Amino acid sequence: DTKRFFTDCILTWNRLHNSRTMPWKGEKNPYRIWLSEIILQQTRVEQGWPYYERFIGAYPTVDKLAQAPEEEVFRLWQGLGYYARCKNMLAAARMISSTHKNQFPKTYEEIAALKGVGAYTAAAIASFAFNLPHAVLDGNVYRVLARYFGIDTPIDSTAGKKLFTALANEVLPKDQAGAYNQAIMDFGAVVCKPQLPLCSSCLLAPRCEAFQKGLTDLVPVKSKK
Ligand code: ADE
Repeated sequence: DTKRFFTDCILTWNRLHNSRTMPWKGEKNPYRIWLSEIILQQTRVEQGWPYYERFIGAYPTVDKLAQAPEEEVFRLWQGLGYYARCKNMLAAARMISSTHKNQFPKTYEEIAALKGVGAYTAAAIASFAFNLPHAVLDGNVYRVLARYFGIDTPIDSTAGKKLFTALANEVLPKDQAGAYNQAIMDFGAVVCKPQLPLCSSCLLAPRCEAFQKGLTDLVPVKSKK
């Protein structure tokens, strides 16, 4: 069916055509994944990349970060903006160090309870590090799903969030959650781009609602706020 086709295409594209490389890709260490996802929350990949390398270099483990003086961590963060992210990151590291005895938590609920970790980041860490079956929903995933399934519910509405969360988890292959989550984000960044998506070489195009109806420029829909 149309959902199975979607999942199969994403996995096939990933296996045969995905040449995107990033330092945190395929990473299994939950601390490193968490750090990369915090940095990337409001920052583009190219901008966040050198910061990720510097943070891992300075703080190779969560206890090293937890023990670092706040001023030093903020200095290393300089240029990334949104300093609440940095503050929450340090608070979370110290919580892991104390409450979790330096062991990064291994369940979705415990991960989601960390300061600065929302639904997206919790799903990313749980799936990449532990292959737990939680679908990630970021801008890329919203766009790919909205176009392929032809959904015009605004992605930033309450109804939209519910609908897309349910759909994202339906098309998630439960046994390959980590690889699939990374694949669909890469697919959205490389093929199903916001502008000038590569529909002519896209495996999904034959069954893509937006492509078939000429609506790729109009989907996903955002409610005016
Ligand atoms: N943005 C946030 N996390 C990402 C990831 N794991 N891969 C690509 N882009 C991302």
